[in-house]
Amino acid sequence: MDKHTSGNKATEMGVINALFFFSLLTFSNGQISSNIGICYGQLGNNLLSPYQSIEFINSMKAGRVKIYDANPEVLKLLAGTGLHVSIMVPNNEISNIASNQTLANQWVRNNVVPHYPQTMIRFLLVGNEVLSYSSDQDRENWFNLVPAMRRIRASLKSLNIRNIKVGTPLAMDVLQSSFPPSNGMFRSDVSERVMVPLLHFLNVTKSFFFLDVYPYFPWSADPNHISLDYALSRGTRFTYTDPGSGLRYTNLLDQMLDSVIFAMTKLGYPNVQLSIAETGWPHAGDIDQPGANIYNAAIYNRNLVRKMTANPPVGTPARPGMDIPTFLFSLYDENRKSGPETERHWGLLHPNGSPVYEVDLTGKREESEYDSLPVPRNNRPYKGKIWCVVARGTNVMELGAPLIHACSQGNGTCDALVPGKECYEPIMVTWHASYAFSSYWAQFRSQGATCSFNGLAVQTTRDPSRGSCKFPSVTL
Ligand SMILES: *[C@@H]1O[C@H](CO)[C@@H](O)[C@H](O)[C@H]1NC(C)=O
Ligand SMILES: *[C@@H]1O[C@H](CO)[C@@H](O)[C@H](O)[C@H]1NC(C)=O
Ligand SMILES: *[C@@H]1O[C@H](CO)[C@@H](O)[C@H](O)[C@H]1NC(C)=O
Repeated sequence: MDKHTSGNKATEMGVINALFFFSLLTFSNGQISSNIGICYGQLGNNLLSPYQSIEFINSMKAGRVKIYDANPEVLKLLAGTGLHVSIMVPNNEISNIASNQTLANQWVRNNVVPHYPQTMIRFLLVGNEVLSYSSDQDRENWFNLVPAMRRIRASLKSLNIRNIKVGTPLAMDVLQSSFPPSNGMFRSDVSERVMVPLLHFLNVTKSFFFLDVYPYFPWSADPNHISLDYALSRGTRFTYTDPGSGLRYTNLLDQMLDSVIFAMTKLGYPNVQLSIAETGWPHAGDIDQPGANIYNAAIYNRNLVRKMTANPPVGTPARPGMDIPTFLFSLYDENRKSGPETERHWGLLHPNGSPVYEVDLTGKREESEYDSLPVPRNNRPYKGKIWCVVARGTNVMELGAPLIHACSQGNGTCDALVPGKECYEPIMVTWHASYAFSSYWAQFRSQGATCSFNGLAVQTTRDPSRGSCKFPSVTL
């Protein structure tokens, strides 16, 4: 009897010890790594090795990492790190996988099986922003998306792999309307044929609606009407009440997330979980891109991290308490990204691994505990003229092709450069290219053209005109 009793006590103690140990473990996990993930994009030619990069991701205490492929070197290095990993099927493999189960099986066998479970692959994303591309061929891909997801999922299931969620990241342009949030609605060209089957798949498989969501973009498109604090999730001074739902918003991110919730609800899927596959704020940009600075980037990301690591989870006005797995974009500044200057400045780290600004990914650090940030100087949109000229240090040999390209666009773009005309002299490639870039950009900026020319061009507020040669400009 005694023995029995003491035996029971021992068991009880064992259980208590185990519970205590377990709670220590979960507690220390909470301390060690965060619920926050980092997007590890590699579109740079000056980035540290995957080995060093993963060291940085670990030392930043990220809990997850998302890559844009299934690079075997990276996946091998991630084994045993404890990081939860999100991998991706490239867009150009979707149509084959959609049409052939053997190819789906091969993809999983080649890219998942060699690494799983040592590498904790948890999300398998099929494509990247597939519904944002709209050439005829891209449109075909829209309708291959869900079939490809089903096949990948079937492959995983046949291998008895049950803890990898299959999803696909979509951008906010999948919505036809997002304001007010209660008016959120998917685009009519994808709503019935793509979104309904997608939501059905996500609901049945208890996967996530992965969303790339950037308050920076709507704010920077309309900085005079949207409060910057509201876009940065800072303070509650400015609020917005949705007349349709009566819900009160204190920040633009919640508003954008809820517009997707309302759109899903309209199609009959109110309970699909959300994950933020990308968000962030650029820390540098061009003259015509207000608000891209270190100050705003740090404030946005810190506020985001604090919100998404809160325990219990905060959620959104439409989904209070919802836990939203979140990935910050991006680990590095990536110098090989095209488009406006901001595109190359989303990094938490410089290419050499030094932080652009501090951000505690555990979300424990209060704003007052950080060092002070550089004062933002471009929060108000620039007003005046801008020209687009050859960047300093450009190799003249590289200017020929973009010069010809710029001159071949538009109406009389380079008329002033022909012999005898006002900008012909000095006869220098740099001079002619600067004129051509300015003239091209002045005609096409309103249609979305950027002053970039693969990094060979920069914006300037200093008028390059000389004598009778007047450079066309963009007026903001
Ligand atoms: C599917 O792909 C495999 C491997 O390339 C190929 O052998 C097979 O013929 C394909 N099946 C169909 C139905 O196209
Ligand atoms: C979504 O999934 C839930 C839980 O499995 C289920 O109860 C519900 O009927 C599903 N919704 C739809 C529209 O299929
Ligand atoms: C060029 O000029 C013509 C006639 O003025 C006009 O119809 C056309 O839209 C212009 N094209 C561009 C690219 O500005």
